[in-house]
Amino acid sequence: MESLDWKNLSFGYLKTDYNVRCYYKNGKWGELEISSSEFIHLHMAATSLHYGQEAFEGLKAFRGNDNRIRIFRWKENARRMHDTALGIKMSPVPEELFRKAVFTVVKLNEKYVPPYGTGASLYIRPLLIGSGAEVGVKPSSEYLFMVFVTPVGPYFKEGFKPVDIMVCRDYDRAAPLGTGCYKVGGNYAASLTSLEIAHQKGFSTALYLDPKEKKYIDEAGPANFFGIKNNCYITPSSKSILPSITNLSLQQLSRDIGLQVECRPVPFDEVSSFDEVGACGTAAVITPIRKIIDPDTGKIYEFCRDGNPGPVSKKLYHLLLAIQNGDEKDIHGWNDCIE
Ligand code: PLP
Ligand code: COI
Repeated sequence: MESLDWKNLSFGYLKTDYNVRCYYKNGKWGELEISSSEFIHLHMAATSLHYGQEAFEGLKAFRGNDNRIRIFRWKENARRMHDTALGIKMSPVPEELFRKAVFTVVKLNEKYVPPYGTGASLYIRPLLIGSGAEVGVKPSSEYLFMVFVTPVGPYFKEGFKPVDIMVCRDYDRAAPLGTGCYKVGGNYAASLTSLEIAHQKGFSTALYLDPKEKKYIDEAGPANFFGIKNNCYITPSSKSILPSITNLSLQQLSRDIGLQVECRPVPFDEVSSFDEVGACGTAAVITPIRKIIDPDTGKIYEFCRDGNPGPVSKKLYHLLLAIQNGDEKDIHGWNDCIE
């Protein structure tokens, strides 16, 4: 893999050698299969294509200085995919099948795990879709679970540099009692128009407010939101956001370094009182926010005035990466190594 420019990878699809697949039929999961094809054979009436029975996950594997490959918190992704499956009436993937699929596909594509020190990682994408044919609106009785991997660099092209984002009130990514807390494709389809508007106006992503009152902060594109003030890590609790595993980890790391943690509704008005704000997620890691522009009021909220990430964001970012890379002791038992 000497030919890959590891340090300049973007967050995109690169072909690797293998993916793994498993089919649910007649009420049970079959054997895990290894495939070298990038394509799937799918019935044209599959429920995933018509009624959105589709869930995905995103997690990462990192190569340490000791050359070992560590997978970060896969059990949390297995649990979230399980919750998502139940949320849209799909057959959930048992934890052991999830584990076997993820570890097998990473091992098979070991040479694509970026070298230590490049800042890149191997992104792991599990996918669960309704594959059975239905025309009436009802859950499929057949499912395909598959996992592919692809080496990635930073999600936002700026990397760990502050980005500008734009408040979005004209579009919601999820309904108040809808599927926002699940990782289903429909939420992302619903976000595409607002993301395109944000990009066209020069912003990295859109900041969504709660869909019911438009009073509280929900999340920042494909990432959760956090703010820092008075020695406190503050992050929205909301029924319409994805429960981020990165956010959960940052809450723990914040406690570890002596910060208070508040997970509660965060009124958008509170933004002006934060010392630092950021977006967090598997793909986004921590992406510091420099400006939040509110196009409806014309207000601009500014952070990182010296152009650099704030001190707490910086500390949390380096701590998280150090644990993921195996440089820092994994005191919470978040990593599992590929043998
Ligand atoms: N919010 C949304 C909408 C996402 O797509 C993601 C990415 O998975 C996140 C938040 C961050 O979640 P996690 O930290 O588990 O990757
Ligand atoms: C992730 O952070 O894993 C995501 O899924 C974000 C985006 C690529 C959908």
